[in-house]
Amino acid sequence: MDTHQDHKITVCTSCKRKGTQQRPGYELIEKLRGAIRAADDAATNDFDVAGVACMAGCERPCAVAYHGTGKATYLFGDMDPAEDVGDLLTFAHHYAALDDGWCSSLDRPGKLRTSTLARVPSLVVATLPTAARAS
Ligand code: FES
Repeated sequence: MDTHQDHKITVCTSCKRKGTQQRPGYELIEKLRGAIRAADDAATNDFDVAGVACMAGCERPCAVAYHGTGKATYLFGDMDPAEDVGDLLTFAHHYAALDDGWCSSLDRPGKLRTSTLARVPSLVVATLPTAARAS
């Protein structure tokens, strides 16, 4: 069985809910993994969900990133395990279907329309003009 996954959701495990010492990242990881297991479809089964300590979105807890091979990377803030798991799963389906991962805010569900902290082109796209000049 091939267990390689081309997509990843990374959740900050250091973010603290504003005004508290609670770190929602671990709960969000567990809920996302559960939602992916429950969905049990090819698109979301291709996602690995993991934690990392800080992605420099500290003022907008909890920070969540999407990345994939040859795809744009997104960093979202303000994600709450009690509210946003459904939208994060919906975006996983959308992101998996995009060849380069690039989409506008209007294509993103719920809070993901307004909570984007960064959208970074894939390395392939970023280096294309240089590679073209070299040929
Ligand atoms: S503590 Fe979560 S992004 Fe920095």
